[in-house]
Amino acid sequence: MIEQTLVLIKPDGVERALVGEVLTRLERVGLKIVGMKMVLVDKNFARRHYAAHVEKGFYKGLEKFITSGPIVAIVLEGLHAVEQVRKIVGGTEPRTALPGTIRGDYAHHSYEYTDKKGIAIKNLVHASGSKKEAEEEITLWFSEKEIHSYQTVHEKHTF
Ligand code: CDP
Ligand code: MG
Repeated sequence: MIEQTLVLIKPDGVERALVGEVLTRLERVGLKIVGMKMVLVDKNFARRHYAAHVEKGFYKGLEKFITSGPIVAIVLEGLHAVEQVRKIVGGTEPRTALPGTIRGDYAHHSYEYTDKKGIAIKNLVHASGSKKEAEEEITLWFSEKEIHSYQTVHEKHTF
C-alpha cells in the first residue's frame, strides 16, 4: 500500500512562485518527500517523459512548454500515494478541474483555448497516473542515490 509517485512542478508553477504552495498541499496530507531537485529538461528528455503523447496533436506545444524553464521534480511516498496525489492535483483541464484541487484553484486554461492557439494546457503540475507509470517515471527522473530513506516525526514518535 505504501507507494512512491512522481510530481513535477512544471515551468508555469515555478515561474508563478507556486512551489511552496504545491508542496504544502502535498505535505499536509502526510505524504513524505523522499526526493527533490530542480531540472531544466531538453527535447530528448521531454520525449522520454511524455513517450505516450509524442504522436498526439498537442505534443509540439507540450514539448515547447515543458522545456521552457526549470521544473521542480519531487518523489513522494505514502499510502496510496499515486491516487492521493492525483486527487490533490485534479483533472487535466484547469477549466473543469474541481475547486479545492491544485489545477482547479490556481489555473484556468481550457482545451478550447489552447487547441485553437496550438499551445499546451498550462496546468502547473504533473503527477504519475498509475503505479506502473510512477515506477517508470521515478527511474527516468531520479537515480537510486537521489531517493532518500528517513523517518518523519510521526513515524518516529507516534507509531
Ligand atoms: O497530466 P495528465 O496526466 O493529467 O494529462 P495527460 O493526458 O497525460 O497529458 C499530459 C499533459 O499534456 C497535460 O498535463 C497537459 O499539460 C498537456 N496536454 C495538452 O497540452 N493538451 C491536451 N489536449 C492534452 C494534454
Ligand atoms: Mg498523464
